[in-house]
Amino acid sequence: MYLIEAKTINKFFYQRKEKRDSHILKDVSISISEGEKIGIVGESGCGKTTLAKSLLKLVPIHDRDTGEIIFRGKDIFPSTEVEFRKLRPELQIIYQDPFLSLNQQMRVVDILREAVKLKHPNLKTPEILTRVNGLLETFRIQPQNLNKLPSQLSGGECRRVGIARVMALEPAFLIADEPVASLDASIKDQIMQLLVKRIDTLMTISHDMRIIKKYVDKIIVMYSGMVVEIARRGEPKPPSSDCYELVHPYSKRLISSVEYFEARENEISTDLDEIDSVSDAQPDVQDSVGCRCVDLCQRLGLSSEKLSKCRSEFPALEAKTTTDNLIACHYVE
Ligand SMILES: Nc1ncnc2c1ncn2[C@@H]1O[C@H](COP(=O)(O)OP(=O)(O)O)[C@@H](O)[C@H]1O
Ligand SMILES: [Mg+2]
Repeated sequence: MYLIEAKTINKFFYQRKEKRDSHILKDVSISISEGEKIGIVGESGCGKTTLAKSLLKLVPIHDRDTGEIIFRGKDIFPSTEVEFRKLRPELQIIYQDPFLSLNQQMRVVDILREAVKLKHPNLKTPEILTRVNGLLETFRIQPQNLNKLPSQLSGGECRRVGIARVMALEPAFLIADEPVASLDASIKDQIMQLLVKRIDTLMTISHDMRIIKKYVDKIIVMYSGMVVEIARRGEPKPPSSDCYELVHPYSKRLISSVEYFEARENEISTDLDEIDSVSDAQPDVQDSVGCRCVDLCQRLGLSSEKLSKCRSEFPALEAKTTTDNLIACHYVE
């Protein structure tokens, strides 16, 4: 049984400016087993954060939204906020914007104290303080910041407090949305190592392919609101030295752009945000009949005969014969 599973999630947002709905997530199904470390990659705007928030019921529901979110065997998609409150400490997120993860009215010391108390309601004050001090040390939070409000901290400091708070809660499932963005290179690996060690079931969203390749067991590639490929870590095979073999046309393009940048800039970390050549523009997500990669595959030279199927039928994410990956494409065998 999976710890958490999303079944055919369709998520809409009403765009006030354009006075129409956009279909942000299209038939997204993913499953996460207990103990799994998974990573989500894809260009900016493809729906990674929306998927994360949908899994944890942190987005307003649109009346066209459909799907199921099964946590420990129970569909939590229809549960009310009050019913869901009990589960909240179990299902946590570290937001991309570090300030959003913290209560702006609370001092750092109270944020950490509250998290420790929530997890261990029977602890006495001295024991709570010992744990808070342990968090300060582990996450390199300066003691002089204890009495500050989040607005008085830097982005990096705020992120460390947010991660310390989540660690104290010991959630069953954590989504870390760009957890090490804005942190110094020296602390990135340290934080990732702590996250993977302490959080059993972890979903990491990152623009940094080095982080993803190093710390996850399974990659989910998204493009324009659809999951195009899910790949497990394998043994690196020649001629590729990579532990992930991605075969969907979009994933290949994404990876080759990353490799191009890696080779050119000789950097250890490659930021997908800087890569704008992968797809010229993501397609308009209002129309959602066929595959959303049509324009991309047309540019890659797929014949118009073949493309007519892509235009009329949405490809299901399924196992193919030549790889163990799950792939959404009519033409990958
Ligand atoms: N609250 C919202 N209302 C309307 N549109 C939104 C909202 N949140 C996100 N979107 C749109 O949904 C798409 C996916 O956004 P997001 O999930 O943040 O992408 P990513 O995290 O991959 O960069 C974008 O086009 C974004 O503009
Ligand atoms: Mg995002």
